[in-house]
Amino acid sequence: MGLRRASIGISWILITFLIVGAVNQSIAQDIIPLPKKLVKNGSTFTLNKDTKIYYEKGLKIHATLLLDMLFPATGWTLEAVESGKDQSNSILLSIDKSLPSEGYQLHVDEKAVKIHGGDEAGVFYGFQTLLQLLPPEIYNKQLQRNTSWVIEGVDIQDEPEYAWRGMMLDVSRYFFDKDYVMKYIDMMSMYKLNTLHLHLIDDAGWRLEIEKYPRLTSIGAWRGEGAKRTGGYYTQDDIREIVAYAELRNVQVIPEIEVPVHNLAAVAAYPYLSCNGTPVQVPEQHFISRDLYCVGKESTFDFLEDVFEETFKLFPSKYIHIGGDEARYDRWKECPYCQKRKAELGLETEAELQVYFNRRIQKMVKKYGKTIVGWDEIIEEGLEEKAVGMVWHNKKKALEATENGHDIVLALTDYLYFDFPESGISGEVKAAAWMPPISLEKVYQFDPVIEGLDEKYRPQVLGAQGALWSDQFIHGTILQEIEPINENRSEAYFDYLTFPRLSALAETVWTPKSMKNWDGFQQRMQSHYQRLDQAGIGYRVPQPKLLRKEEKNGQYSIELECPVDGAEIRFTTDGIKPNVHSEIYSKPIMISRLQDFQAITVVSRHHYSLPLYFPVTYPQYEKYGVMIGEWRTKDVYADQEVVLEWNATGKIKKNGIYEVNFIATDGDNSMEIRGIKILKNGKEVAADSHRGSSKTSLEENVFAFSIDDYETGAAFTIQANAVGVGGTDTNGVIFIKLKDE
Ligand code: ACM
Ligand code: ZN
Repeated sequence: MGLRRASIGISWILITFLIVGAVNQSIAQDIIPLPKKLVKNGSTFTLNKDTKIYYEKGLKIHATLLLDMLFPATGWTLEAVESGKDQSNSILLSIDKSLPSEGYQLHVDEKAVKIHGGDEAGVFYGFQTLLQLLPPEIYNKQLQRNTSWVIEGVDIQDEPEYAWRGMMLDVSRYFFDKDYVMKYIDMMSMYKLNTLHLHLIDDAGWRLEIEKYPRLTSIGAWRGEGAKRTGGYYTQDDIREIVAYAELRNVQVIPEIEVPVHNLAAVAAYPYLSCNGTPVQVPEQHFISRDLYCVGKESTFDFLEDVFEETFKLFPSKYIHIGGDEARYDRWKECPYCQKRKAELGLETEAELQVYFNRRIQKMVKKYGKTIVGWDEIIEEGLEEKAVGMVWHNKKKALEATENGHDIVLALTDYLYFDFPESGISGEVKAAAWMPPISLEKVYQFDPVIEGLDEKYRPQVLGAQGALWSDQFIHGTILQEIEPINENRSEAYFDYLTFPRLSALAETVWTPKSMKNWDGFQQRMQSHYQRLDQAGIGYRVPQPKLLRKEEKNGQYSIELECPVDGAEIRFTTDGIKPNVHSEIYSKPIMISRLQDFQAITVVSRHHYSLPLYFPVTYPQYEKYGVMIGEWRTKDVYADQEVVLEWNATGKIKKNGIYEVNFIATDGDNSMEIRGIKILKNGKEVAADSHRGSSKTSLEENVFAFSIDDYETGAAFTIQANAVGVGGTDTNGVIFIKLKDE
């Protein structure tokens, strides 16, 4: 069966669409990232216990890996044989050097599955596509007796658009154990990502065993005392295991040994590394330390030389990430050693000292053949030799870096920081409410070729990566409100932040831009949630998709679509949050008050989405700041005091005097407010105890308080003692404003 070729880009999509469009709900249509070329040939192949894997010399470990991938769900240990012959009922693995690196061809007909990789990586990606052509149960770790392992006949020709397709895990602020890191490698490789950047070191923890400096991990890997003590580190054996596991799955692991700042854990272990040598402890709360490695003392460089020597024995990647972000130079300015160095070198600023530091590191790692990668600060400050700039600030930095001759990897805060919430819906991520949401669509639409990039610099754009920072995990606040993972600062929460955004990132870096299509991606993703479920990978369940919302004679008609195959939508029409027992949505809903409707996607009793709802907006009250919530009849009691509570995280953004307004919107009764309290991370930090009534003059309902000890990441709550005066027919909204802003 030959491969039907279309010229390029859009015409290819049309042809693919015409061919595949004929068969409804075909698995082949759902591949993520979308392959470059896919044609269905009308045949089917059925995997059975007698299917043999024939592999070309050199691919034995890959054949074994495929065997291992197919075994748990099918229960069959297929026979793998070294042979180049074309046999029936077989999966053939071979290398075809004429294909691009990481590229592959996959041919499926009734007789055989043939995978030709441009290299071993390409063969592995052929496996991943093959798994996506099999029923979702193939990902299950348990035997699936009732599944028929049928594969649709296809011809696929595929290769990645970018060479660097990555994710960063911040294992310092929260220690993810070896098993989770390996699971994460599986999660990445399922979607053909190939670079895992491990943020191994930060103020809150040193995670890499260095034999010459045992205190780095005996002291630097732990924080807190007694029952509160947390932490951990990877032994050198753990790292060897992780790296080998990753290598077989075409994932390079890049260690980040951060200099000169974000290193308090190292200073806690060896105080001589800082300028003043003052003993410190590994911090229990998130902050960015002012301590830096002393650039004036040679002992700093001796230490780093030793650390790099051991690091490079463990990580074969040609890259070493040296961090370099967010340095503040207070300590260097006060330090006689650093100032002496600065004078001797004839430097004028401490920023120039950091350039000196980086150049020393660059020289140090060069003898190991390593290229340095750093956050965009290191590029800004003018390195002599070519380095890779990991651009996090903004697109302008990316343009500057390419113009200065550096390769870049995009990891932009606004698009690719997966610790940012996916939506601004109340309850999404309480503690991170100050960060603008990064929706699935925003990740999907991201283009590594940023606006304004001259075509001649295009080869310097190596690719992009998502960043999963875990500093929120140590803020000590409740992260989000979906009950099953509430308060869960854990791997489950990392899964939640990762998927489905990782799938969108994968398509952004693998599939040519001209072939990307947001609606198509959403359609394909619908069936992928089942694959993630089968694989035991968590994800953020998307809210029901709104197909239509129409008003006619004061009635709204709402039509929804379930965004997850096999899930259901449940809804309420009384303003109360739906749960897994609420009414099942089966047809469009009519409702008179739009704000009373809420719907959730339910995958299982413990896995469901945040609500889709239509909050009323009050542009007329914008002069009172931003809305923090509302009260409704159901919230108050007649002539009896209750404590009502609203989440003000993200609305209280800095120190200052704030005003909270209680504004009645409708109802015959009024609500009396007998004072308010402001809680930071659950503890009272301010109050205004006067009384006000919602239906009287507005001044009376303005409650003022002062925030003097703001902390990034802290959760703020406003509580009011409220009474429905003479009844409960009272509804209103609450606005908050920073005075004089
Ligand atoms: C960073 O987010 N400080 C790289
Ligand atoms: Zn110093």
